Amino acid sequence: MDTLDALKTKYLSKIEGAGDETALEEVRVAALGKKGEVSLQMRSLGQMSPEERQVAGPALNALKADLTEALALRRDGLADAALNARLAEEWADVSLTPRPQQQGTLHPISQVTEEVIAIFADLGYGVAEGPQVENDWYNFDSLNIPPEHPSRQEMDTFYMHREAGDNRPPHVLRTHTSPVQVRHMEAHGAPCRIICPGRVYRADYDQTHTPMFHQVEGLAIDTDISMANLKWTLEEFCCAFFEIDDITLRFRASHFPFTEPSAEVDIRCSWEDGQLKLGEGDDWLEILGSGMVHPKVLSNAGIDPEVYQGFAFGIGIDRIAMLKYGIPDLRAFFESDLRWLRHYGFSPLASAG
Ligand code: DAH
Repeated sequence: MDTLDALKTKYLSKIEGAGDETALEEVRVAALGKKGEVSLQMRSLGQMSPEERQVAGPALNALKADLTEALALRRDGLADAALNARLAEEWADVSLTPRPQQQGTLHPISQVTEEVIAIFADLGYGVAEGPQVENDWYNFDSLNIPPEHPSRQEMDTFYMHREAGDNRPPHVLRTHTSPVQVRHMEAHGAPCRIICPGRVYRADYDQTHTPMFHQVEGLAIDTDISMANLKWTLEEFCCAFFEIDDITLRFRASHFPFTEPSAEVDIRCSWEDGQLKLGEGDDWLEILGSGMVHPKVLSNAGIDPEVYQGFAFGIGIDRIAMLKYGIPDLRAFFESDLRWLRHYGFSPLASAG
């Protein structure tokens, strides 16, 4: 009995003194492990007389139970203490100002597209979109560009791959946004006023050409629309977009299969020490193609050219972005150079138009 009391006192104090869970485990092994002191006592029960065993057995069991309970209590206590220590040490001050984060910028093409949409929205135009993989009816034929027409070659068209034996009419990456005109008129009829911004593709690559670039198409159809309306609209747009009151546009007679008459439009500018100035000077920069929608295009889209007429135009978005924001090389738009993007990019919170 004395031995058991001594064991109990010894191990209870060791349990109390264990400073962490590893030390506590060592105490458990020393007492209750296979070769622990209490376990050895248990084993000695076998050599006792039945009378002795009757006394020693329950006493040993009680000792084992007491130590096991004390171990569990101490283990919980140590875990709580460890958690409290962590909580005291690791805490977040939610009132601190957050670390500054690297902010992304809007790409100039996105910015300019938004500006164009905002300006035309003020003039009553909606936005229409069409597919970038287009069939040759919408990209060419419906726009009065017949199979043998040279502009099919001029446009350096990307044709989609066809398996041998696949005899569907060719699909192309659209070479301009003009097919959206036909799709829109077909779906919604006349009158209409829309712009169609989007990506277009041509096999061409140098300082002023990339295989993918951006256009915005404009279309206004009604019973009484004339070339004069086209001129006013484009002047209004250019003044708003370039933020210059006295912009001069020059309408140069030109040819497009889908307009008659057709005009290319130049903007008056000057170059001073390599700096481009819009609105003054003796130079002209071409910014868009336009004209009165060809009667055949109207009838291809299911609109009666005897009743309706209107104008269309196609502006190079990349081009007017370069002009407005002084970006010298078109290719840089698509190189994803972070330094360039940070320099020419726009704050997402700045308003368009
Ligand atoms: N589609 C022409 C091009 O890509 C641009 C164009 C010219 C569009 C005249 C028009 C237009 O709507 O009337 O070069």
